[in-house]
Amino acid sequence: MTDAPILEAIGITKSFPGVNALKSVDFRLFPGEIHTLMGQNGAGKSTLINVLTGVHAHDAGEVRLGGEPVQFATPLEAEAAGIQTLYQEINLCPNLSVAENVFAGRQPKRRGMIDWKTIHSRTEAALAELNVSLDVTKSLDAYPIAVQQMVAIARAVSVDARVLILDEPTSSLDDSEVARLFDVLRKLKQSGYAILFVTHFLEQTYAISDRITVMRNGEREGEYVAKDLPVERLVSKMVGHERMSERLKHAATEAPVSKSEAPPFVEMRGVGRRGLMSPVDIDVQPGQILGLAGLLGSGRTETARLLFGAERADTGTVNVAGKPVKLGSPRDAVHQGIGYCPEDRKKEGIIAALSIRENIILALQARRGWWRVLGRAKERAIADDYIAKLGIKASDAEQPIGLLSGGNQQKVLLARWLATDPKMLILDEPTRGIDVGAKFEIMDRVLALCAKGLAILFISSEVSEVVRVSHRIAVLRDRRKVAEVAGNALSEDQVYRLIAGDAE
Ligand SMILES: Nc1ncnc2c1ncn2[C@@H]1O[C@H](COP(=O)(O)OP(=O)(O)OP(=O)(O)O)[C@@H](O)[C@H]1O
Ligand SMILES: [Mg+2]
Repeated sequence: MTDAPILEAIGITKSFPGVNALKSVDFRLFPGEIHTLMGQNGAGKSTLINVLTGVHAHDAGEVRLGGEPVQFATPLEAEAAGIQTLYQEINLCPNLSVAENVFAGRQPKRRGMIDWKTIHSRTEAALAELNVSLDVTKSLDAYPIAVQQMVAIARAVSVDARVLILDEPTSSLDDSEVARLFDVLRKLKQSGYAILFVTHFLEQTYAISDRITVMRNGEREGEYVAKDLPVERLVSKMVGHERMSERLKHAATEAPVSKSEAPPFVEMRGVGRRGLMSPVDIDVQPGQILGLAGLLGSGRTETARLLFGAERADTGTVNVAGKPVKLGSPRDAVHQGIGYCPEDRKKEGIIAALSIRENIILALQARRGWWRVLGRAKERAIADDYIAKLGIKASDAEQPIGLLSGGNQQKVLLARWLATDPKMLILDEPTRGIDVGAKFEIMDRVLALCAKGLAILFISSEVSEVVRVSHRIAVLRDRRKVAEVAGNALSEDQVYRLIAGDAE
């Protein structure tokens, strides 16, 4: 770390209609450091990044790069000046190939023609840096979201930048991929990069950061040397009161005692699909949480999608509430009282242009049938209720959901399914991108519903979270179910061993 900041914000103010997103914020980023920006959902982290990188113009204040005032009109201008940014919502083109994504806007040419050979070999080299090997000519959407994110990072590291900004890059990566990414970040830091990182994972913050800037309610709360800031203090600075740190100590999220040996709500027998998932048996009881553990690509999401009818099974049978049913489409599943919060909120979840109210009532309306309209006042009451209950930070229920911070969008999705009063919920990474405070609130709420008889299929990359909340855990590996174990009785270590395959 040297004496002069490479990138600096001085008194940055930025308002959107109805929100003061940034209130005279100062921020400094030095060469050779990894600096983490922390704060609750809606605190202004992404907005600050957007101002620094030319996505938004600021209302007042100054941005300096290498000591000189700059005003980037577009992210491309910031990129040209040596600032590479991986935004919170992946900004790649799913239909282009991996290599096209890495080189979009800056393709090397030979004699006026795009030099595909160079593009492909340089993309492979950039991915190799991250220990990823893929067919770079395939279209990006052929790969799961975590791999797509690796591609975005490869784009960032394949140019000669001085500043690298990553807004929640790890929220869809599993442990080994996070470790890999961190290795890369440390290497880049050694070579003098200034790295700005946003995450909600406290452990990751401490594993990687030299310094931490805390934001709260659009203000900079403070800047700290990571090793001098104990985790409880960090949390209370983020949430603005001391109670939360107490709460963290005795983590409230523990699975309620299993209610009964009630017959399963869902029984899947030998359900699979060639090329997607080997046949699995899965039971989920009312009032119980079945956790799915496994590495990325082990078949967790595939299992969920088969159950929800989003993928059509070619073998097996499903019983719901004791009766054989055919779940050929999500519509069938919703009709049976099954809700699904998908992992990729942008692609499968939110409709950015619709309001929060419209996004929340979507599943409820679909379940009632479109001809039985709820009425504006009723819709509004439901939306306001969930905005309050889940602490969704928005100026109003009529705000387009696309304008909410990432974590708040995730909460709206959860509200959508809770509003249908489902009998079973499939939660695929439900707390991804959600701040510590809200995470406990959301899990508490889910557990309370579970105690009232809701059946839950819970998927998370965080093994600790799966172990803590699940009554039983199905462990998946290579798109097969390899074990099923009682949740509370198990240690994380044991689950890790099952996942890794050395406990059989
Ligand atoms: N384009 C926009 N139009 C209107 N309001 C916006 C826009 N972008 C952000 N906001 C609002 O500004 C505030 C700060 O949002 P921001 O996205 O910076 O939060 P964040 O700290 O990144 O949160 P998260 O952890 O959920 O990603 C929020 O209240 C959000 O709704
Ligand atoms: Mg954000």
